[in-house]
Amino acid sequence: MAEPILKLESITRTFSDGRFVQRVLRDVNLAFFTGELTIIAGPSGSGKTTLLSIMGLILQPTEGRVSLRGRDVTDVAEEEAATLRLHNFGFVFQTPTEIPALPVIENVLVAHGVQGAKIPAALRARAGELLEQFGLADYAHSLPRALSTGQKQRLAIVRALLNDPGLLLCDEPTSALDAENSEVVLETLRSLAHEESRGVVLVTHDPRVMPYGDRVVELEHGTVTADSREGKPS
Ligand SMILES: Nc1ncnc2c1ncn2[C@@H]1O[C@H](COP(=O)(O)OP(=O)(O)OP(=O)(O)O)[C@@H](O)[C@H]1O
Ligand SMILES: [Mg+2]
Repeated sequence: MAEPILKLESITRTFSDGRFVQRVLRDVNLAFFTGELTIIAGPSGSGKTTLLSIMGLILQPTEGRVSLRGRDVTDVAEEEAATLRLHNFGFVFQTPTEIPALPVIENVLVAHGVQGAKIPAALRARAGELLEQFGLADYAHSLPRALSTGQKQRLAIVRALLNDPGLLLCDEPTSALDAENSEVVLETLRSLAHEESRGVVLVTHDPRVMPYGDRVVELEHGTVTADSREGKPS
């Protein structure tokens, strides 16, 4: 059985406002693999963004363990978590998050993480190649306002791919898009997931997204209620 790139064991997450404790995730056990697009589906408030934040080492679980490529990373300090994020994860959010004052190619390069540091030529070349691959090469030196919403979301994907992450974590990446752009983005994410060294996890409440998943996990009230992978050899 292949080793998962990311493993969540008995994950619980609570939030407290000082008076009430809200249990947002309960005993979540999931392993994620490269080569597939996993869709985590659940209604609003079911804990999807919280789960994705724990997977991406943005948020720590209240209980349970997180392992990245076989290493327990649950308790790493923020500085190390930042380095692990940079080298292992790409993030794509619901609304494109471009910086309006920066040309498109600089918007890609900000993902390198080191602000103000000299960007290696090889990385700049990779950014150019990715823009080409995603049909955005003509806009490389334009400001993002020249892009449509669908193109901005493709720019967000290019940025997420700059450091060649093993896992792309996407939070409702198509909910701001019309049907046509949504289809383009989902096809793109699916083909990225089918690269041997990469996996994609996409959380959504949109049933139209489900057919694109190689695997669908359902989350309700913070609990996994169905997983199409269960019982399948991996
Ligand atoms: N930082 C926080 N502090 C307090 N409560 C939080 C925090 N983050 C999330 N919650 C609560 O956790 C629950 C789940 O939130 P989460 O954002 O994970 O849901 P979701 O499934 O992503 O919903 P949506 O589809 O609306 O984005 C919500 O009730 C929310 O209010
Ligand atoms: Mg959410």
